[in-house]
Amino acid sequence: MTDGAEIRLVVAGAVMRSGRLLLAQRTYPPEVAGRWELPGGKAEPGEHAAAALRRELAEELGVVVQPGSRLDAEVDLPGPMRLIALRATLVSGEPVAEEHSALRWVDAAELRQMAARDELVAADTVWVAQLCALLDST
Ligand code: CDP
Repeated sequence: MTDGAEIRLVVAGAVMRSGRLLLAQRTYPPEVAGRWELPGGKAEPGEHAAAALRRELAEELGVVVQPGSRLDAEVDLPGPMRLIALRATLVSGEPVAEEHSALRWVDAAELRQMAARDELVAADTVWVAQLCALLDST
């Protein structure tokens, strides 16, 4: 498949506050249920990444976020889909797990430990090193 227009964009949010990163525990599909991810979802056709992230986190967590810069890595997923992540800060609201089974705020050490224990959604492991560096610098 070479036509980029047919690749669906998925945008995840690296929401950070006070040296901690927000992780959300997936409930589906069964092969990833129980694993933790950066919350987000599919952009609508033509929807910009930042707008998609604002919409997804409003739907999934009930919060308003300000999307920021993009994390370095991106991941090609079956579908085909392309997964990217944007940093984001909470503007209003406190996250609630509307579509996930749980939420947690982790520091860099906890994130490394979860990655080592294979508790993260596989694709999201590409961002662990950069996220730990960002968390350690705040
Ligand atoms: O919520 P929506 O149906 O729009 O999207 P999703 O099911 O949350 O995500 C679309 C795809 O991206 C699924 O295959 C997820 O497993 C994957 N994904 C991921 O690998 N890592 C994330 N942080 C978010 C989504």
